[in-house]
Amino acid sequence: MSQRIRKAVFPVAGLGTRFLPATKTVPKEMLPIIDKPLIQYAVDEAVEAGCDTLIFVTNRYKHAVADYFDKAYELEQKLERAGKTEQLELVRNVLPSHVRAVFVTQAEALGLGHAVLCAKPIIGDEPFAVLLPDDLIWNRGPGALAQMADAAQASGASQIAVQDVPREQTGSYGIVATETFSGREGRISAIVEKPAPEIAPSNLAVVGRYVLSPRIFDLLESTTPGAGGEIQLTDAIAALLVEHPVHAYRFRGTRFDCGTHIGLIEATIRYALDHEKLSDAAQQLMQNALKELGVTELE
Ligand code: G1P
Repeated sequence: MSQRIRKAVFPVAGLGTRFLPATKTVPKEMLPIIDKPLIQYAVDEAVEAGCDTLIFVTNRYKHAVADYFDKAYELEQKLERAGKTEQLELVRNVLPSHVRAVFVTQAEALGLGHAVLCAKPIIGDEPFAVLLPDDLIWNRGPGALAQMADAAQASGASQIAVQDVPREQTGSYGIVATETFSGREGRISAIVEKPAPEIAPSNLAVVGRYVLSPRIFDLLESTTPGAGGEIQLTDAIAALLVEHPVHAYRFRGTRFDCGTHIGLIEATIRYALDHEKLSDAAQQLMQNALKELGVTELE
């Protein structure tokens, strides 16, 4: 797989029930960290990695995602007339001009594997990326997907982002067993979706970034429902690694699980503390809040 990835799939058809009532009308991918929705962080990461075709797998209720990436003529005109050039740029740069967005509907919520399969007609026969926008990855240097795209090009292997998790959490992730790592990569010998801690092959968990060979589509077509009664991407990857090298990739960066309340809070704190204009004020108000609540300051 020496070909560079150009296409990225964003499965965004989930219901986001954890964030109800907010997600009654706002898809979870549109929840903001500071001033950008989660989906924008994932899109920026894919564009930075060299992708120019972004495929959003949505459901019929998720107009907000398509609207967000659509051109906002009226708003742009108003900002232009008011001379608000900075804001105008922000609105226009949601998608750079060389990038195209394609929307595909997943008619039934049959699982992540099924969502990825819905993108097959647009991907065709080339390696591609999958990004789960719930997993927000913060890094000062190149983004996680750019790192993985480089690794995929250099090694010819599919790449799956991984990180260590506490053993008691294996039931929330895809878990891999690998051969010895060389640098950041280790060939995956087994992968299983959400195993209980007692039977998990390791505590190395899959994070929502994948660079995959298009062969995965044939395998997805014959994948039957697995964990949770859903068609799992993990199960198709288990079939892929029998015939093609699939590497676990330990990315540089910090991952926030924005599919949970605490992860979303953690990400907001981190981005605020790292923000050019907000950092000092954010630090101050966090200290004030701790003091007011009587939480002892750490030395
Ligand atoms: C999905 C994948 C799982 C992976 C996780 C990462 O699970 O199925 O293998 O570890 O994303 O966030 P989900 O969190 O959608 O249940």
